Amino acid sequence: MAHSVKAVVVMEKDAPASVTTIIVPDPGPGEALVDILTCGVCHTDLHYKQGGISDDYPFLLGHEATGVVNAVGPGVTEVKAGDRVILNWRAVCGECRACRRGEAQYCFNTHNATQKMTLEDGTELSPALGIGAFAEKTLVDAGQCTKVDPEADPAAVGLLGCGIMAGIGAAINTGNVRRGDSVAVIGCGGVGIAAIAGSKLAGATTIIAVDIDDRKLELAKGLGATHTINSTETDPVEAIRGLTDGNGANVVIDAVGRPETYKQAFYARDLAGTVVLVGVPTPDMTLELPLLDVFGRGGSLKSSWYGDCLPSRDFPMLVSQYRQGNLNLDAFVTERITLDQVEEAFHKMHDGAVLRSVVEL
Ligand SMILES: NC(=O)c1ccc[n+]([C@@H]2O[C@H](COP(=O)([O-])OP(=O)(O)OC[C@H]3O[C@@H](n4cnc5c(N)ncnc54)[C@H](O)[C@@H]3O)[C@@H](O)[C@H]2O)c1
Ligand SMILES: [Zn+2]
Ligand SMILES: [Zn+2]
Repeated sequence: MAHSVKAVVVMEKDAPASVTTIIVPDPGPGEALVDILTCGVCHTDLHYKQGGISDDYPFLLGHEATGVVNAVGPGVTEVKAGDRVILNWRAVCGECRACRRGEAQYCFNTHNATQKMTLEDGTELSPALGIGAFAEKTLVDAGQCTKVDPEADPAAVGLLGCGIMAGIGAAINTGNVRRGDSVAVIGCGGVGIAAIAGSKLAGATTIIAVDIDDRKLELAKGLGATHTINSTETDPVEAIRGLTDGNGANVVIDAVGRPETYKQAFYARDLAGTVVLVGVPTPDMTLELPLLDVFGRGGSLKSSWYGDCLPSRDFPMLVSQYRQGNLNLDAFVTERITLDQVEEAFHKMHDGAVLRSVVEL
């Protein structure tokens, strides 16, 4: 049996995100059908809409989601109907070269559902990050379902499914922020502020937030920033050095992903420090740096895919931190909206008005 459900689709480059009916198959071998409870609006959905990720329209948007497993296909043992889950886009395969090296956080063969969801006329949809959760129901690989505590607010913990995990993980996994470190975060949207919250969780003592919007800097203070810099008014490299005894921060996280912010991160970092790129650049962007500076400043230049997370390890741990009061995920939920308000949420994101708009189904 297939299911007709309401979902948010983008038909072609820059077309509005609109609610339409899609067809979701029953789960086949290894798959899970999930009733979506909540799904956050991530900047990556906007990248999809604008053609920044691929040209495989129509896209079924949404990927930062919580749901309840409706049914599982043959051979699925890890989850069952009724389980509360956060969806992930790293269903580790266990067999690829990364997994075999014991580095499953880089898994190169993450699984998605094999069957396709379609429009009513049979046109196959490309689900954002292999999820597609601005929908009443979605079909994923069972490994994309991470079982979590059903008591936690789904709108808050669902954000761990993408951007908030990416930000926290950029700090605690990729950047390896340690107690007493100085950290600077450039770009304080959901991802950047999550990197700030992650740095605080890891025990960083100087946490510098940089943005071009004072509203974001205010929010950053509430989640752990000890200092804020508006980079339209103040040179962020000089300011970060000034706040770190003239040296630069141990770890600088670029949560924007543009050549100019990357250069700021590169030069605002202490000698032998770490730069983490977690913002996603677009295909037209290039970076030019003096190679002597790359050598002379030492340290490591890393990129963070999904915060180098292992969903089965990190999601339950962070839900637990949330429930213990160590991680304020509620603060990321700026507004709760309906499916037909996703397009409006993109405009609000663009205007800088929200950290996260979360669709409740
Ligand atoms: N690496 C990953 O796995 C991963 C996962 C999720 C999202 N992302 C990416 O992270 C980035 C941020 O996502 P988000 O949801 O937080 O976006 P967002 O739009 O909510 O936030 C972006 C923030 O950057 C600020 N900004 C823009 N230009 C700036 C500049 N020049 N200097 C300083 N600040 C600037 C904006 O004011 C805003 O506060 C996006 O590129 C998104 O695609 C990456
Ligand atoms: Zn793998
Ligand atoms: Zn995302």
